[in-house]
Parts: sequence; C-alpha cells; structure tokens
Amino acid sequence: MSEGRGQWGSRLSFVLAAAGSAVGLGNLWKFPYITGMNGGGAFVLIYLVCILLIGLPIMIGEVLLGRMSQSSVVGTFSKLSGGKPTPWVGVGWLGVATGVVILSYYSVVAGWSLHYVWLALSGGLSLAQPEAFGELFNATYTDPGINLRYHTIFMGLTAMIVLGGIQGGVERAARVLMPVLLLMMAALLAYSTTLEGFGRAVDFVFGFHVESITGEAVLEALGHSFFTLSLGMGAMLTYGSYLSRKDDVIAVSLATTALDTLVALMACLVLFPITFSAGMEAANGPGLVFINMPLAFSGLPGGQLWSVAFFIPLFFAALSSGISLLEVAAAYFIDERGWSRRKAVLLTTSVIFALGVPSALSGSDNMVFGAGIHWIGERNWFDTFDYLASNWMLPLGGLGIAGFAAWRLGGKAREASFRAGSRLGSLPGVYLAWLQLLRYAVPLAIVIVMLHALGVL
Ligand code: PHE
Repeated sequence: MSEGRGQWGSRLSFVLAAAGSAVGLGNLWKFPYITGMNGGGAFVLIYLVCILLIGLPIMIGEVLLGRMSQSSVVGTFSKLSGGKPTPWVGVGWLGVATGVVILSYYSVVAGWSLHYVWLALSGGLSLAQPEAFGELFNATYTDPGINLRYHTIFMGLTAMIVLGGIQGGVERAARVLMPVLLLMMAALLAYSTTLEGFGRAVDFVFGFHVESITGEAVLEALGHSFFTLSLGMGAMLTYGSYLSRKDDVIAVSLATTALDTLVALMACLVLFPITFSAGMEAANGPGLVFINMPLAFSGLPGGQLWSVAFFIPLFFAALSSGISLLEVAAAYFIDERGWSRRKAVLLTTSVIFALGVPSALSGSDNMVFGAGIHWIGERNWFDTFDYLASNWMLPLGGLGIAGFAAWRLGGKAREASFRAGSRLGSLPGVYLAWLQLLRYAVPLAIVIVMLHALGVL
C-alpha cells in the first residue's frame, strides 16, 4: 500500500528530516528577536511550557495520524474516517493551503540569508560604519531585483530536492543539512562563551524577570510554538506518513521537539553574547540577525568568514523547512490525484512561486504590492500573509488536528497505535496524559490565541 509513496530509510532519517522542518528561520531569526523584544527569561520560560504542554502533544498527534493513515494530509482525514465523506477533510485542505501560503513568503526571507552568504563571500559585509549595516539590510529589503532573484533561487533549490523523492531527496538533504547546521551552531556557541557578554546573555535568556511578562508575551510564545515546531498544517503529519508502522512515534516526536528547542536556545546563546559584547541592544527587532550579526563579526579577525559560518547554517535551516512545506502540497497531488512526483512538484512550485512574487515586492515601491500598499490593517502583502498564517491558519489547523486525533479517532485504534513500537508510550499513564492534554489543554490554549487575535481577549 505504501510502496511507491516512499519511506524513510531509518528512524534517524525521520528525526533529521522532521528536525530539519522544525528548525528554521523560526529558531534562528524569529525566536531570538521576539525573545529580545519580550524582555528575555520569562518569555523563554513561557515558550518552553507551551512547547511541552501544547506543542509536544500536537506533534505526537500529527506524527501518529500520518503513520496510521500512510497518506497525505487530505487523505489522512478521509481514510481515518473510514473512507466516508467527512467535513474533517477541510482540515487537510487548510493544511495544504497553509503550506502554500507560508512557503510563498518564507522563501523571501530565506532568500535574504542566501544574499548575505553571497555578500559575505564577495566582501560586501566589510563596512566601515556601524550604521551601514542597517542601511544594507534596508537596501536588501527594498530591492525588488534582489528579492525576486533569491526567491527564484530558493524555490528552485527546494523543488529540486523535493523532486528527488523521500529517500533520494528529502532524506539525503536532511542528512547533510542538519549535522552541518548543528556543528556550525556549536562552533559559534563555543566562540560566544568566550565573550564578556556571555554571562549577561545567560542571565537575559534564563533569568526569570517577572516584570517582563505581559499577556501579549504569553500569546506570542504560544503562537510561536506552533510555527517553530511546524505544527498545525500537516508537515509533521506528512513526514509521519513515511514512517513504517513499527516506528516509535513517541520517541521520534520527543527527539524532534528537543532538537528544535535546543537550536532555538543555542541561537539565543550565540546571538545575545555577541549583541551585548558589541554594546548593542537585544530588542532590535527583525534586523537582529541581519544587522547585528555581521556588525558584530566585522570587528573580529576574519569577520567575513564568521558571517559565512553564520549565514550558511541559516540558509540550510530555511531550506530544510522549505522542503517540508513544499512536500505537504506535493504529497497531496501524488496521493490523492495520482500525479507523478514530477508533475506535482512542478505545479505546486509554480503556484507558490507566483504567490511569493508580491511578498518579494513588499519592501519595494511597487505600485501594486509595494511597501505603501496595505492589505489587512497596516500590513503590506508580506506581513499580511505572515499574519494570516501564524495567527489564523496554523492555530486553526492545530485545533482541527488535535480535535480529530482526540475526539474523532476510534479510541482503540488510537491507543494501540500510540503504544505500538514505543516503550515510552506503553508506560502507565503516558497515553492518558497525552490524550487529556490534547482533549482539553490544547483546544483551550488555541481558542485563547484566536480570541486574542480577534481582539476579544
Ligand atoms: N518550523 C519552521 C521554522 O521554524 C517553519 C515551518 C512552519 C515549517 C510550518 C513547516 C511548517 O522556521
């Protein structure tokens, strides 16, 4: 039944690919900057609680659903409903749409990281004035040519890897990208520990500064836990569908969640010592990575090389996440429509590429999609897409996935599948704890996020 769809070569491959999906711009770019904006320690603690109590249960739920159904995110809901028409399929459709929306703008940010690799290699980051780094980032953001070029390259690379299939493409890429990323992050961390700002950074990231907790911070931490773990749109579900029925869902979900969290914390411990030692501020917003890092590196011997060593992992992390976003949509056409992988990948890539063009133009003075044109509220196209995906589509999808796994799925099959192949899953109380979290805590938390986004809370 699953022959021809592809399957992971080993359990480690799944973990590397799933961690490759989870670890991305969310960890290295967004997490440090929102931690900086939210005052550090307390925010990090809330985020960790969200990961453990909400993210991890949904992660297990997604991987479990995928492994049970052995099909794409749309097929999963109909198959596990006994093949009868069911409104739950809408959750699958939402997942495919969310993947398309996210990848269209994710590709643009990923493109900046590739542009910075190129700048570092070509000497474009050896700037004399500190302000010049801010200007350089602004010049990147507003230039339609740069954005379109790198959007094209990123989508092309992503498509090439996904074209290679599960073992030949996704798995092979993950086996290289993830270890390189971890090694480079470890090297950067080793360097950061030698800096005078390290102690202050540790206190900033792990010290509990109660005064910095706000309602906003709690909600931001919750929303980010979805994005960073690639939850709520079926990416983990689709990757789970390439597991064999004997694989231990609980162990691989734990490993993936732990790796993602580890890299997010490492990113903070790399960025903040460098930021503090260079006398810069933590609350520097989205420019934290693109402005502070090269600026800090420029003061070091071999500064350009450090920048290369930083932006290559950033790009790799974005690439392995982009692969999973594309795979969700491609798998739908392969499984449900019987298309060849080639046709599915070419079509989905073309649609996503086209949809990303407005995002690539969002910083420019383009008359239709440029910075001056607002879509929802004050948001340009790029921000609108990010807002829709992060605040609405992922939480809604997460609600649907948790609801289906916890309330709709047959209890016996669910429990048997949860325990299958898993020593941890068979320990007394583990299954029930997971089910209760998924039934009550998860929906409640998601509804709170959505009410907040609506301005009701
Ligand atoms: N988790 C990825 C990141 O942190 C983004 C992502 C979201 C990837 C949803 C796949 C699905 O960058």
